[in-house]
Amino acid sequence: MNPFIYQNPTKLIFGKGQLEQLVQEVPRYGRKVLLVYGGGSIKRTGLYDRTLALLKEAGAEVVELGGVEPNPRLSTVNRGAALCREHNIDLLLAVGGGSTIDCTKAIAAAAKFDGDFWDVVTKKAAVKDALPFGTVLTLAATGSEMNAGSVITNWELNEKHGWGSPLVYPRFSILDPEHTFTLPREQTVYGIVDMMSHIFEQYFHHRTDTPIQDGFCEALLRAILQTAPVALERPDDYEARETLMYAGTIALNGYLSMGTPGDWATHDLEHAISAVYDIPHGGGLAILFPNWMKHVVRDNPARFKQLGVHVFGVDPAGKADLEAAEEGIAALRAFWNSIGAPSRLADYDIDDSKLGVMADKVVANGPRGRFRPLERDDVLAIYRSSL
Ligand code: NZQ
Ligand code: ZN
Repeated sequence: MNPFIYQNPTKLIFGKGQLEQLVQEVPRYGRKVLLVYGGGSIKRTGLYDRTLALLKEAGAEVVELGGVEPNPRLSTVNRGAALCREHNIDLLLAVGGGSTIDCTKAIAAAAKFDGDFWDVVTKKAAVKDALPFGTVLTLAATGSEMNAGSVITNWELNEKHGWGSPLVYPRFSILDPEHTFTLPREQTVYGIVDMMSHIFEQYFHHRTDTPIQDGFCEALLRAILQTAPVALERPDDYEARETLMYAGTIALNGYLSMGTPGDWATHDLEHAISAVYDIPHGGGLAILFPNWMKHVVRDNPARFKQLGVHVFGVDPAGKADLEAAEEGIAALRAFWNSIGAPSRLADYDIDDSKLGVMADKVVANGPRGRFRPLERDDVLAIYRSSL
């Protein structure tokens, strides 16, 4: 394993009815709360009213920022930071999915940052301070509820980048699986694809000294494969939603990547597509990941075979590593097709006209990914095979 330090300070508050913990958690940070939410789903589901009632019980004075976009934008971050300064906010509370949480992380840091926050997102400047924030998660997908990453889009520049800082771990995150019962079917699907993709990004490396990490990844993937169809068939199946919510958090809270290098090229390829076409992150990953796998499988067929055999039930008897590996990749595509995930860029009406623009974005700072560092030609080949 590589030497590593692991420290994750987020207090995870998980289970039915845990929203009530707001009453204990919020006053620890002060009275003035900026409530951050998305396009209105929390108003339709009643979560908004319940949250406001609990914030009142906690003695909080609430300022609101609604309308955070899926693929949250820098302009919204700047609006939020201005509200924090104007109202002397003590604590931010994100109620929503990864976009709302990512935006809240950026606002928490931007409120304490002197300058153009895009410099932080593009790693030209570092965060030195941030306001504290908590989250109430409504979508199992990104892991943002228990990590220090945030992905922000600059729509004027058509750029979308991830940034992070240990200062933007949520202080607490409340995860009640019932809050995900109301998800539209396609958002549940995108979430499943995203959390599986996070596991793949961490699973694909060339080390052979990671049996524990491999086992964690494979167990999570098997549980997701078993559970996803149940949650899609019965959106209010508590146990299925619980398993997915737990899986989504564990998949990207640092737990799976202790001592291992991740790949993460496919995420960069997806972010470039979202930056130009504003498509859902999970939808883009569903199109790209099996094609990334096919592109790099020959670099280490044994690793892909292990995934096929341990997760997708591939029978390796009498097969060369590459054959078993390719069967596993085909099984992944078949599974994502079976739950209704998109498989081609054409599903989002994306043609080949901007593939070069997107490839330039991916390799702007050099080759991407560690399993095989992708050059521009590799990126283009993967995009082309995704058309
Ligand atoms: O905006 P509202 O009205 O709330 O509706 C949302 C949104 O339209 C809706 N929704 C969420 N919870 C719901 C619900 N509708 C009904 N009932 C509920 N319980 O779902 C839609 C999508 O929400 P969004 O937050 O955009 O989805 P997700 O959680 O997948 O987040 C995607 C963003 O996270 C970034 C992505 O790039 C993308 O910008 N990522 C963040 C990561 C991180 N911070 O670690 C890692 C990921 O790889 C990813 O890149
Ligand atoms: Zn992702």
